[in-house]
Amino acid sequence: MTIMPVNKKLLVTLGLLSIVVFGAMTNIKPQDEGFKNLKVLPKNISGENLHKVMEDWEHSLGVHCNFCHARNEETKKMDWASDAKPEKAMARDMYKMMNKINQKYFHAKKDSLGMIMQSGVNCNTCHRGTAHPEVMVPDGKGPGGQPGPPPAGPAPGNPAPTKP
Ligand code: HEC
Ligand code: HEC
Repeated sequence: MTIMPVNKKLLVTLGLLSIVVFGAMTNIKPQDEGFKNLKVLPKNISGENLHKVMEDWEHSLGVHCNFCHARNEETKKMDWASDAKPEKAMARDMYKMMNKINQKYFHAKKDSLGMIMQSGVNCNTCHRGTAHPEVMVPDGKGPGGQPGPPPAGPAPGNPAPTKP
């Protein structure tokens, strides 16, 4: 008879304890979002930060996710970890190039995630919303310049305005 309240207390204590332990475990979880194939970004990057990087790339290149990411035709779902598209490999090379330029020539430091800060150039410096930045040849007529090589046809520099 006198043992019951003790056991109840014990159960309550154990119950509370497990909540605390469980809570602590779930607190650790956001560290690993389960990304499977990160080779240039920090492996422990949060989902939120990865998404920021991906959206940054989308906007800089003026493309959507599927420009670099392949879809699994069986499941009809995006396979984010897949390396099937060459554009994804190119993006990794571009990221490495950008880091090298910033580190070597702009003396960029690393941020808290260990990512090299974009203190000199970023994707948009060159891409400006397009996947294929044209090589512009300065023509001495102010900002911009002409896309090279010059197009065949009417004299360059004074194209007739097209009316819709
Ligand atoms: C310009 C190319 C490009 C675009 C656009 C892009 N991604 Fe990525 N994405 C990559 C590359 C490259 C990696 C691998 C990074 C690495 O190796 O560290 C990656 C990795 C990922 C991963 C991690 C997959 C894993 O498990 O390894 C996810 C999730 C992801 N991208 C989602 C998206 C989403 C969502 C969008 C659209 C909002 C998007 N990406 C747009 C190039 C791109
Ligand atoms: C120093 C200038 C520069 C920077 C910085 C730069 N790019 Fe590029 N990128 C280029 C040029 C030039 C091309 C070649 C365009 C072509 O061949 O039509 C290119 C091509 C690409 C392509 C291939 C496009 C295709 O159709 O296959 C991808 C993907 C790409 N860049 C992603 C990125 C990403 C992501 C970043 C930032 C991490 C970045 N680039 C930063 C200049 C740059």
